[in-house]
Amino acid sequence: MVDTDNHEFHDTCMDYQTTEQVREIFLRNSALTEDELFEMDDTEFRARMRERSHHTLEIQLYSCLYRGKPLRKEQADIARKFLKVWDRKGLSHDLPEYKYVTFLVESAEKLVNGETVDLSAYKPHEVTKQMEDDFFTILYERRSVREFKDKDVPDEVIDKVLEAGLWAAHGCNIQSIRYVVVREKNEPGLFRGSDVPGGPVHLVICQDMRCYRANDFTPNRNRLLDAGAAGENIVLAAHAAGLEGVWLTFPNEEFCDRLKAKFNLPDYIRLVTYVDVGYGDQTPHPPLRQSVEEAVLARL
Ligand SMILES: Cc1cc2nc3c(=O)[nH]c(=O)nc-3n(C[C@H](O)[C@H](O)[C@H](O)COP(=O)(O)O)c2cc1C
Repeated sequence: MVDTDNHEFHDTCMDYQTTEQVREIFLRNSALTEDELFEMDDTEFRARMRERSHHTLEIQLYSCLYRGKPLRKEQADIARKFLKVWDRKGLSHDLPEYKYVTFLVESAEKLVNGETVDLSAYKPHEVTKQMEDDFFTILYERRSVREFKDKDVPDEVIDKVLEAGLWAAHGCNIQSIRYVVVREKNEPGLFRGSDVPGGPVHLVICQDMRCYRANDFTPNRNRLLDAGAAGENIVLAAHAAGLEGVWLTFPNEEFCDRLKAKFNLPDYIRLVTYVDVGYGDQTPHPPLRQSVEEAVLARL
C-alpha cells in the first residue's frame, strides 16, 4: 500500500528535527507580537493558542497546584496575550480553546492570589471492576470486520464515533484532526480500489496541516501519530457503539486525488487514513497476538 498525497507536507513527516533546528524555529516563532498574531490565519492562530497555553501555562499550573509550589505571576502572560488577540479578532467566546484558556488564566490568578483552585468537578469516575472488565472486553473483542449488513447507521452514532477520535491524545494539544464522511450509497464507487469497496460508511481521517504550520517547532513525528491515535479511538468507539469496521490504507495516489477533487479539499488538508464502519456481518477468529513476554525487549 502506498502512503500518498500532499507531498509538500510528506517530505519531513517522519523526520526528527535536530535540537538546534527546534530551538531556532522556536526562538523565531515564540515572540510573535500581538499584531503578528492578529494577522495570522484564524485556524493557525487557534492551533498556536492551544499549543502555547499547553506549554506555557497548563503544565506549570498543574505542577504548582499539585506540588504546592508558587506560580509565577507572569506565567499566564502568553495565554493572556492570546485571549486579548482573540477578542481583537472577534472570535466567538463559545469556542473550546477560548473557554479552556480562560479557565487556565483564571485558575492561575487564583493560585497566585493564594486562593483555592477547585478541580473536584473533573475527578474521573472511580473505575469499578465492572467498568474495567467492560473496557477490556471492548478492547479485545474489537475485530477488523469487512462484511456489513444492509442497515443504515444513524448520524448520531457516526458523530459519537467521530467525537471519540477528537478526544484521542494529541501531540502538544494542536488538534489537527478533521474528517470527511461518505456514505457509500450516496456516492457508489467513490472508494473503488479500496480493500473493502462497499464499506457502508467511510470515515476519512484528515489533518489540517495549518495547525502544524503554526507550530512548526513541534516534533514532526507526532503528526502521523496524532492521526493514529484518533484512528484507534475510532475503531474502539465504533465497536463500543454497536458498529464494526476496519481501518484501511489508501491504495494509491489516484485514490486520494479522487477524494480530494470530489470534496474540493485545499492543499493544507492531508488525507491520512480511513476507517469503514457499519453493522457487521462477520465474526472472524481473532488474529492472535504475540505474548507480552515476546514483545518486551527489555525490562529493568
Ligand atoms: C494502519 C492500519 C492500516 C490497515 N490497513 C488495512 C487495509 O488496507 N486493508 C485491510 O483489509 N485491513 C487493514 N488494516 C486492518 C488490519 O489488517 C487488522 O487490524 C489486523 O489484521 C489485525 O486484525 P484485528 O484488527 O481484527 O485485530 C489496517 C490496520 C491498521 C492499524
